[in-house]
Amino acid sequence: SFEVYCEQSDVTVTVGTNDTIAKALQKAGIKVSMSCEEGVCGTCITDVLEGEPDHRDHFLTDEEKADNDQIALCCSRAKCSRLVIDL
Ligand code: FES
Repeated sequence: SFEVYCEQSDVTVTVGTNDTIAKALQKAGIKVSMSCEEGVCGTCITDVLEGEPDHRDHFLTDEEKADNDQIALCCSRAKCSRLVIDL
């Protein structure tokens, strides 16, 4: 598991192995805009302020993924123990 800190909301959630970031955030009462929930549409793309995402989506280009400053919350995870996102 890993932690996601929402800077605007000042909320930290723990994302377990069987959870997505989006689901963990929703459980904590944070609104996440989603549509496809499969990493295709880009609706859930959110800015990453700290940490390294483990990109699992098919929306961001390889270059955008390498920048590590955006994440698809419906499907991507973290390569580090804590991500800070702009939500
Ligand atoms: Fe479509 Fe995440 S909801 S990419």
